[in-house]
Amino acid sequence: MSRTDRFLKACKREPTDCTPIWLMRQAGRYMPEYRALREEHTILELIKSPEMAAEVTLQPIEAFELDAAIIFADILTVPEAMGLELEFVSGEGPIFHNPIGSSADVEKLRSIDPREYLDFTIKAVKLARAALAGRVPLIGFSGAPFTLACYAIEGGSSRDFTKAKAFMHDQPSAWHMLMERLSNVVGEYLLAQAEAGAQALQLFDSWVGHVTPEEYAEFVMPYSAEAIRQAKQSKAPLIHFGTGTGSLLPQMKEAGGDVIGVDSETDLVAAWDELGKVAVQGNLDPKVLAEGSIADIRKEAGRILFNVSGRKGHIFNLGHGARKDTPPENVAALVDFVHKYTSADPEDDGNEDSEAHKRRSRFDEDENE
Ligand code: CP3
Repeated sequence: MSRTDRFLKACKREPTDCTPIWLMRQAGRYMPEYRALREEHTILELIKSPEMAAEVTLQPIEAFELDAAIIFADILTVPEAMGLELEFVSGEGPIFHNPIGSSADVEKLRSIDPREYLDFTIKAVKLARAALAGRVPLIGFSGAPFTLACYAIEGGSSRDFTKAKAFMHDQPSAWHMLMERLSNVVGEYLLAQAEAGAQALQLFDSWVGHVTPEEYAEFVMPYSAEAIRQAKQSKAPLIHFGTGTGSLLPQMKEAGGDVIGVDSETDLVAAWDELGKVAVQGNLDPKVLAEGSIADIRKEAGRILFNVSGRKGHIFNLGHGARKDTPPENVAALVDFVHKYTSADPEDDGNEDSEAHKRRSRFDEDENE
């Protein structure tokens, strides 16, 4: 089986030779190859040059035995294309100079065709897909309407998103108008990436853990569901990811997605039992990968894999993006460990694994009932 098959098969909950692994933020500052390019170019220059974006997309694929590539871009180019002025301030993170504060601001947003305004990423998808030459599949992505609305209203990162939540409750009609516009652009943008060659899609709702289940149902879910509905006009499997989502996971599944992302604070198998029939992605703590010894990483990844015990449809990943202080050799060790530990060949199993095998068979029996 080629590396390509593993990830896409797991998205569909089909059997694989071993558990596929890729990492959120696998292309980025922890890699010396990336830092070298960043010495010459700003992050927006890298994103807006299709050639350089494709090059960065492939850097982690050349360096590690990962099972999927993710297109190099950022979630914030979507609000930028709609008219918000974006700047990445070194040491501070991203800011928008003209954040949204009223319904008039929402009305001023451009309703864009992502194929035109985000053509650099669409072209990067085509180039990266060609350069990968079938080695591993390519994932396209977008920020989800809620997370993008948070940035657009706050004007940057925030610890608790108080402005965004106040806007949601105090100006509900402006909120709904903003979310509707974002959901159409996000849906169309994901579809355009799939049509350009992305074989899977991920919706990042990174900050959705800041709402309650009631708020999610009223202010968030209809728009995530609409974006996913539009994206699913392509056949590409879709990963629906958020953090702080322990109590929101069933609603996220209802909004849509073939794969649900689970953060590191949530017990992956307990969440999976609650979610039922869907593939699941996660959930090693990025802190362990950055700060742990190789033995720590194996222990923690081994714990997750032991608990999953070969259930079909597991995609190994972090619970959130890789940190910039992650040693590249830790990434190499993790990828190798996940593949070896889950290798379907029973001869590879040590004592611990035979127990895992028993649990795996038990799960398969339960599922077939
Ligand atoms: O995963 C990948 O390898 C693909 C590339 C990718 C980037 N951003 C590149 C990037 C992806 C998938 C993103 C998504 C993204 N961007 C999210 C959602 C995922 C998450 O982590 O929750 C968010 C919230 C953003 C917004 C954003 N972009 C922030 C808050 C920052 C600054 C913080 C930081 O890490 O510096 C960025 C910058 C950014 N986007 C970097 C990269 C590699 C680092 C900037 C640099 O090179 O200077």
